[in-house]
Amino acid sequence: MRYIPCALLTFAAACGSSDPEVSARYYTGTDSAALGAAGNQADCATCHDNGDAKRGRSGNSLANIAYRASFKGGSAPALIDGVNACVTGWMGGSALTATDESWLELEAYLQSISDPAVTTANPLAPEVLADDAAYATAYAGGDAAAGAAKYTASCGSCHDGARKVGTVASYPKSALKAFGAGRIAQKVRTAGPPPSSMAAGATDTTPGPMPFFEPSDLSAQDLKDIVAHILAS
Ligand code: HEC
Ligand code: HEC
Repeated sequence: MRYIPCALLTFAAACGSSDPEVSARYYTGTDSAALGAAGNQADCATCHDNGDAKRGRSGNSLANIAYRASFKGGSAPALIDGVNACVTGWMGGSALTATDESWLELEAYLQSISDPAVTTANPLAPEVLADDAAYATAYAGGDAAAGAAKYTASCGSCHDGARKVGTVASYPKSALKAFGAGRIAQKVRTAGPPPSSMAAGATDTTPGPMPFFEPSDLSAQDLKDIVAHILAS
């Protein structure tokens, strides 16, 4: 951290405040995970890429995120609100405030991987169907062999290592089969606690800390193949 005395600067906006480090430590690794609940093992990189390969992650890329007009489909007006939805929702931590050193470093990092010219908000389009029977119909007929690598890319980062999201450990793959095709697909499409859940209120039957995957994050064919793989394993 470097403190910039106002007297040395002609631009008032930049003076009197600290100049945060640009480092990825609140994006990935233990400092990032520690923004969440005690024991949380999900860092931002578990669910969001930073411009490297997306690898079937549930969240949008954080490359070019910082200067968008709004976040989370408009429910989060500022970047800090969008980040806090994840910190308090999935990660189970306390909301960051605008003056926290960790926030200033994270914000500086997100700005460093963003082009200020990219300002259009990302759409938020989760697939919410009536019930698990509707998901079972929609996601029948996948290719179990093709689903193996897709499962590893999108689900294995949590489910193969019992990763804790907030305070809840991801179940092993062997335990997922018992949920059945409809429930597996429904969970993938709508999982998440308030304020992250996409099927909030009485209709939210999948409120755990696992993140939801929109069709733009995981295609219908990929989810069909993953469901078939889990049921066959
Ligand atoms: C357990 C998974 C998970 C974790 C951990 C997580 N996020 Fe998210 N995040 C999501 C999902 C899912 C969304 C919903 C929208 C989307 O697909 O990006 C989201 C949305 C966002 C948005 C709004 C994106 C937009 O396009 O409007 C931002 C910004 C964000 N996250 C930043 C972060 C940061 C920074 C961290 C780490 C401090 C973090 N997230 C941790 C899953 C996660
Ligand atoms: C960021 C980590 C993470 C990722 C990625 C992830 N899960 Fe999960 N999943 C969890 C956690 C934690 C739980 C237990 C808590 C909960 O129910 O949300 C869980 C629970 C589940 C359940 C139990 C549903 C229920 O009704 O309790 C199913 C089925 C499931 N996951 C399937 C999947 C599939 C399929 C994928 C890949 C498309 C996937 N998960 C990706 C963390 C993850």
